[in-house]
Order: sequence, then structure tokens, then C-alpha cells
Amino acid sequence: MKVLVTGVSGYIGSHAALELLRAGHEVAGFDNLSNSSEESVRRVRELAGKPLRFERLDLLDAPALTRLLREGWDVVLHFAGLKAVGESVEKPELYRVNNVSGSENLLAAMDAAGCRRLVFSSSCTVYGEVKKNPVDESHPRAAANPYGRTKLDIEDLCFARAAKDPAWRVALLRYFNPVGADASGRIGEDPRGAPNNLMPFVMQTAVGRRDKVRVFGNDYPTPDGTCLRDYIHVTDLALGHLAALDRLDSFAGAQAVNLGTGHGSSVLEVIRAASRAAGRDIPFEIAPRRAGDAAAIWAEPALARAKLGWRAARGLDAMCADHWRWQKANPSGYAS
Ligand code: UD1
Repeated sequence: MKVLVTGVSGYIGSHAALELLRAGHEVAGFDNLSNSSEESVRRVRELAGKPLRFERLDLLDAPALTRLLREGWDVVLHFAGLKAVGESVEKPELYRVNNVSGSENLLAAMDAAGCRRLVFSSSCTVYGEVKKNPVDESHPRAAANPYGRTKLDIEDLCFARAAKDPAWRVALLRYFNPVGADASGRIGEDPRGAPNNLMPFVMQTAVGRRDKVRVFGNDYPTPDGTCLRDYIHVTDLALGHLAALDRLDSFAGAQAVNLGTGHGSSVLEVIRAASRAAGRDIPFEIAPRRAGDAAAIWAEPALARAKLGWRAARGLDAMCADHWRWQKANPSGYAS
């Protein structure tokens, strides 16, 4: 297939582009590089040994987007977006414009070009406050913060398009917590500034860029008192997108599918697994709870198995080993 990837130089976009090329698809992508480096694209080309066209383009540049879409694509994988929860609370309008208006532009440009097949990067954040684990796709949706609101709104844009025009096929893939890196260690997660998410913070501590990890709360109603999350290897996640591409024709309009492992790990379990992978103790201290954190959330992955024929294959140790290989070889990310 001829696949267009938005946000191709980002963490998940770059891993998806690599797996698409490995599977023999023809891939082009764009990014505004606001939170990523084109070096990731160069490395994807080198790993795949195949061409990967890259454009620097912003979703808010509607005329350029329309021109690009008119070139003719079988399917679009849409990863581009801002994703820092804290920043979204400070700048909700920035998040609305960038994520929601950007996605509106994308859908309009696709429509104008007659491309109606889309795979969208949604998130388990759309489940808001979780009532019961594991969470399946029928769980009510709610926005826990402005970032989460944008994911919900973009899902709704897709539902509305598909309801209006039955030619649309949209997979709304709700990711749990992506971590890890390609097994080569050549591409990986490279957050700008201090990481908000656990795994990059843990790995930057292991490599000596940070003093210690702060564990946000150990008084939750969980086995060791720290929060449980469904960490999923980014390569498994990327392969979930390939499975969605293959099965997109079976989608009834726009449909949501969880991509998770079905298993929750605690913050302390993650730190222990990361310490094993790095072969060194990773210092940590118990800190107060972080506002807005849920005690536990993990996926019911049955729909992904039934509908996409996909399941996560890599466990927490592989996630940590691969993330560490990337971090160790690239202590300062792509700037190393
Ligand atoms: C967070 C967002 C979620 C978003 C996702 C995107 C919040 C509340 N949620 O998910 O909406 O979709 O990132 O990647 O921000 N932790 C520590 N110390 C740290 C960092 C994290 O103890 O330095 C803990 C957190 O309390 C949490 C777990 O580690 O229990 C995972 O945190 P994180 O990686 O930020 O992911 P989520 O909070 O699940």
C-alpha cells in the first residue's frame, strides 16, 4: 500500500514507518518537527534500507496538506499531535488548535482527495476516570484534561465523518502506555526537556542524566501501593497498526480498538525491570501523588485479537532491554 504518515519523525510515528517499510509498503511522511528530529527519519531509512520521503509540513497549513493528499494515498496513519498533559492544562487553546483543528484539516484534505482510509492515534486517556479494569472499548468516555479532550474530539470528528459518508474506514487505536524502542537501539523516544512519562525518566536516570526517579505515590490501593499501567512495547504497537491496515476493510465506519497487553505493571516493577536491563540500581524516592493520576488502568485486548488478529508479544523485560539499548547508545537522544 501507499501509506502517508503524519508525525513520522516522532516516537511512535518513526517506529510505525519502520515496520511499514519492513513489511514492504511504500511510505512517505511529514512532521512540523516541533517536538522531534529529522534524524529519526534518516535512521529509519538506514534500518529499513529503503527510501522514506519526508516533508516538513504542519497540519495547520491546509493548502499544502491538500496538495500532498492529492498525490493519491491508499491510507493515512495519523500520529501528529501535542501530548503533554501538564502543558495542555496551561495552554488548552494551543492543544485544541494544533490537535483538533489540525485533524479537521487532515480529514478535509483526505475527503477532497478521495482518500477515506485512516488509522488514528487515540489513547486510553479517552476513558477518563476508570470504573473497572480491564477497560474495554465500551467503557464510557470522558476527558480528564485538555489533552484528553483533544483525543476525544478527534475521535468524534472521525465518527461524524464515517456516519455521513459510508465510504470511510477509520481505526481509532487507543494506546495504553507505549515504551521501549526498536531492537536495534537506533531509534527511540527522545523527549525534549525533562520527561513527563515514567520510562524515559527512569532510563535517563539509569544513564546518569537525572539523579533519581520520583515515584508519585505509594499509598494507592494496589499490591505495592504504586500505580498500575499497561505498558506496551512500541514495536508491538507499530505492528498493531499494520494489522489494522490489513483489516481496515472489515471496519464498520469508524471503530475504536484498544492496543494494550491486558496486564498492569506497577511503578516499582518498572523500576526493578529497568534496573535489571541496565545492570545497575536506579535510584528512586517516594514522592507525593501526581494530581490527576489514576490508581490503575489496563486494557481488555480481546477486540484487537478478534478484529485485527493482533496481540502484544513483548513483555516488560524486553521493553526495558530495548529502551535501555537505545538510551545507552544515545544518552542525549538524537543529539548524542
Ligand atoms: C500519561 C498521561 C496520559 C497520556 C500519556 C501519554 C497523565 C495523568 N496521563 O499517562 O493522559 O495519554 O501519558 O504518554 O499525565 N510516574 C512516576 N514518576 C515519574 C513519572 C511517572 O511515578 O517521574 C508514574 C505515574 O504516577 C504513573 C506511571 O508512572 O502512575 C506512568 O506515568 P506516565 O508515564 O506519565 O503515564 P500515564 O500517567 O499513564
